[in-house]
Amino acid sequence: MSYTEGMLKEGALKGKNILVTGGGTGLGKSMGLYFLKLGANLVITSRKLEVLQETAQEMEKETGGKVLALACDVREIDQVEKMWTDAVEHFGQIHAVLNNAAGNFISPTERLSTNAFNTVLDIVLKGTSQVTLTAGKYWIKEKQKGTFLNIVTTYAWTGSGYVVPSAAAKAGVLAMTRSLAVEWAKYNIRSNAIAPGPFPTEGAWSRLLPGDLVKKFDPAKKVPVGRVGEHQELANLAAYLMSDFSAYVNGEVITIDGGEWLQGAGE
Ligand code: HXC
Repeated sequence: MSYTEGMLKEGALKGKNILVTGGGTGLGKSMGLYFLKLGANLVITSRKLEVLQETAQEMEKETGGKVLALACDVREIDQVEKMWTDAVEHFGQIHAVLNNAAGNFISPTERLSTNAFNTVLDIVLKGTSQVTLTAGKYWIKEKQKGTFLNIVTTYAWTGSGYVVPSAAAKAGVLAMTRSLAVEWAKYNIRSNAIAPGPFPTEGAWSRLLPGDLVKKFDPAKKVPVGRVGEHQELANLAAYLMSDFSAYVNGEVITIDGGEWLQGAGE
C-alpha cells in the first residue's frame, strides 16, 4: 500500500451526485476524478465551458461514470442559481458540494487595486457563500441530506503576507464552514474543510509561483516530511469527507501539508 493509491473501497460514493466548483482543472479535477472512480456522478463547473467539456469527456472515458459540465462564474448569483437548477434537473438530486473554485494573486498588498482585492474576495468568499446558500436552501426546502466540503488554506488562521485578500476570504470560508456545521446539522447538512499545502498543478501552482519561485520552492527545506503532496493523497481525504464514513465529522478543518504550516511557511 502506498499514499499514491486510492484509499476507499470500490463503490464508496455509489449513488452520490457530487458538484465540484473549479472542477475542470487542477486539484478540483483530481478530487472529482477519484469521486467518479468510487462510483459517484459528477457536475463540474467553472467559467470555461470548453475546458470543462474536454475534462468531462476525459473523465467519462477513464471511469465510465457520468459527468455534467456546466459553465458558471460563482460570483454571479444568476449563474449559480441556473447552474444548480440544471444540475438538479439532470441528476435528480445533488448530494454534496465541493467548494473548490478560487482566485489568488501573490502581490504586495499596496500594489493591488481595489478591484483586484475585491476580485479575490468575490471569487473565494462571495462565490462560496452563493453556492452554499443556493444548495443549502434547496436541501432544507426539499428535506434532503447534504454535505459541504470547502477548500481553505492554513493562512486562513496563521495569516500571511502577499496573499492578504485570499487569507481574508479563506478565513471567512472557514468561519462559514464551522458556523453552518452548527446551524445546519439539524437539517442533516454537514460542513467540513480541507486546508491543502503544496500540491503542484499545471495552473494555479505555476501561475502563482512563476519562473524562479517554482524552482526555488525546496520541499526538503519547507516541508517537514520533505516532499510536495500527491493529488491522490488529497483526493483520498476529500472522498472520505464526502462519504458516509465521515458521518460524525462536522465543522472540522483537516490540514494536509506534510506539516508545512507548523514550520512557519506562511511568513
Ligand atoms: C495583481 C491583478 C493580477 C495580478 C489581475 N489583476 N491579475 N492584480 N496581480 N497577477 C487585477 C486586474 O488588473 C484587475 O484589476 C482585477 O485584478 C481583476 O482582473 P481580471 O483579469 O478582470 O479578473 P478575472 O478575469 O475575474 O480573473 C480572476 C483571476 C483569475 C483571479 C485573475 O486568475 C482566476 O480566476 N484564477 C483562478 C485560478 C486561481 O487563481 N486559483 C488560485 C487558487 S490557489 P483592475 O484594477 O486593473 O481592474 C489558492 C491558494 C494557493 O488560492 C496558496 C499558494 C500561496
